[in-house]
Amino acid sequence: MLTKANKRELTEVLLASKKKYRPAKKILAEANIKDYNAIIKKSLENPIKFWEEAARDLVWFKPWRKVFDSSHKPFYKWFIGGKCNLAYNALDKHIGTKIEKKLAIIWEDETGRSRKLTYWELYQEVNKLVNALKKQGIRKGDRVAIYMPNIPEIAVAMLSCAKIGAMHSVVFAGFSAKALADRINDARAKILFTADGSFRRGKIINYKEFVDEAIKECRTIKKVIVVKNNKNKVKFNKRKDIWYHDFVKGMPTEAKCAQMDAEDPAFVLYTSGTTSKPKGVVHVHGGYMVGVLRTIKWVFDLHGDERFWCTADPGWITGHSYIIYGPLLAGVTTVMYEGVPDMPKPDRIWKIVEKYKVNVFYTAPTLIRAMMKYGAKWPKMHKMPSLRILGTVGEPINPEAWEWYYKYVGKKRCPIMDTWWQTETGSNMITPLPCATLKPGSAGKPFPGIKAEVVDKKGKPVPIGKGGYLVIINQWPSMIRTIFNNPKRYIKTYWQEIKGAYFTGDVAFKDRDGYFWIQGRTDDVLKVAGHRIGTAEVESAFVSHKSVVEAGAIGVPDPIKGEVIKAFVILKQGVKGSDALKLELRKCVRKEIGPIAVIKDIEFVDKLPKTRSGKIMRRVLKAKELGLPLGDTSSLV
Ligand code: WTA
Repeated sequence: MLTKANKRELTEVLLASKKKYRPAKKILAEANIKDYNAIIKKSLENPIKFWEEAARDLVWFKPWRKVFDSSHKPFYKWFIGGKCNLAYNALDKHIGTKIEKKLAIIWEDETGRSRKLTYWELYQEVNKLVNALKKQGIRKGDRVAIYMPNIPEIAVAMLSCAKIGAMHSVVFAGFSAKALADRINDARAKILFTADGSFRRGKIINYKEFVDEAIKECRTIKKVIVVKNNKNKVKFNKRKDIWYHDFVKGMPTEAKCAQMDAEDPAFVLYTSGTTSKPKGVVHVHGGYMVGVLRTIKWVFDLHGDERFWCTADPGWITGHSYIIYGPLLAGVTTVMYEGVPDMPKPDRIWKIVEKYKVNVFYTAPTLIRAMMKYGAKWPKMHKMPSLRILGTVGEPINPEAWEWYYKYVGKKRCPIMDTWWQTETGSNMITPLPCATLKPGSAGKPFPGIKAEVVDKKGKPVPIGKGGYLVIINQWPSMIRTIFNNPKRYIKTYWQEIKGAYFTGDVAFKDRDGYFWIQGRTDDVLKVAGHRIGTAEVESAFVSHKSVVEAGAIGVPDPIKGEVIKAFVILKQGVKGSDALKLELRKCVRKEIGPIAVIKDIEFVDKLPKTRSGKIMRRVLKAKELGLPLGDTSSLV
């Protein structure tokens, strides 16, 4: 029987499902895939066969013996026995074809500087760096850290590592020196790439300074390679630092590509979880490239000559998969923009779309909401006739923002792909395709080959319209393989919550048409402007301050950033709470995590709600803050 709350949810779902957008005739006529339901149905008859066919779009040095192996679950394997290389498929395979002369990267920065690299030029740059890294002793299996702005050299560095078979670990440059040091140390990286600086909102960000501070604590780093990006004056340590242009000077423009096993790790990317220690998510060469290529081609309906602009940062999975690897695997042009979206005016984004004739534009709800704030007049000034497909990712998009995006950016021509996925999934998992009927606010159905479900604690599917845990019940090639150096945590985080399924940590519900509506996280992971931050990391940052005994952090809704952080802090005996102390604590969090941890408010308290076992009940803090019912408090002491 439906409870009152379920009934209310169901009505909401049905109401929401009424708003539907069918694909425009032109989009449908051109679409690679023309029937959403039929392709999903067909793929699910034999998902393994579906992925095997997808893998044939790539170049393999040696074919696989077996497509899928689950004999050591949850350590699943794909394309067993296959030999390949992610960078070879993103770059080398295009050389000698007509793609060679095509632009691989178009880059522009906030100040208006721009650079263009063809596939041939990018190939040569990568080879030079491969040779320089090898000379430096970098080998298959080594880790290389990258802490850089969104510039072409970040792509060169990532591709070079992949070509050698070394794992890159890109750390988003909005993280602090401390956060960078922790990630370098966990991966025991030997080399660190950075830049002298970057312009943001007209100001210079001195990355080198953060790096100098970070590597004081990093024993494994042998060399720091610094790109001269904005001629910012930086301190140079002659023994350790080397300019990028000197590092690659005179290096041969041809280099051998490592033949990797399909299951060899390609990279590690750290992401927040429920403890204060970030998890190093490991992706492999074979399955990752299969998932990324198949999704980018189908979700964004690529035909081969597109200009693809994903506004994420390469430091996040979205950047890895849909700025760097996806577009290059597909042989299209990727656009990179180093700067903020409203400089010098709030139409900068639309200007870039027009200037470079962008066909696919992929962004985050937080950017759309920020642009909405400035008003529709800015996108209205630009016709953007090149745009065909729009995308969003990172957090749920509210129907209002969806409609605005559809009307003013897409001019009611371009379908919006609301793509749900995670660092751990490697590529899009729940998403419409351009041929699908769209419902603003829903991420649509699982991508072909993927079986997702909404279940209760016992793993039983919940009725339509009822909220529950979002799980994936089969496996897919671009899935996480393990947590770097911590296989136990991999098992515990993803495979022990719900029996027999991959636990996403999200809550969702399904409507009558089988469309998924993502509600947010069930755990203590926040999405601040689309950036994933664990409350435990924030709390541990507060506690690192000498005046703090304990802290509880929660996410509170924010009209633009989605969520921002509110912290409840217990001070040491005798310490008085003051505005000056609040300022100091904010600084402390910034130092520990970085500017992405946006603290809205700090409240000094005497006590935090806790369970008998001593766990902070953030749910209770949140309910109180938002004036919501407290829910089950039986375990509260
Ligand atoms: C959230 C980003 C609603 C979700 C690719 C997920 C979304 C987390 C969507 C992963 C979406 C991502 N609608 N929520 N379209 N896309 N999320 O690892 O909570 O940075 O678990 O990967 O973002 O964040 P991550």
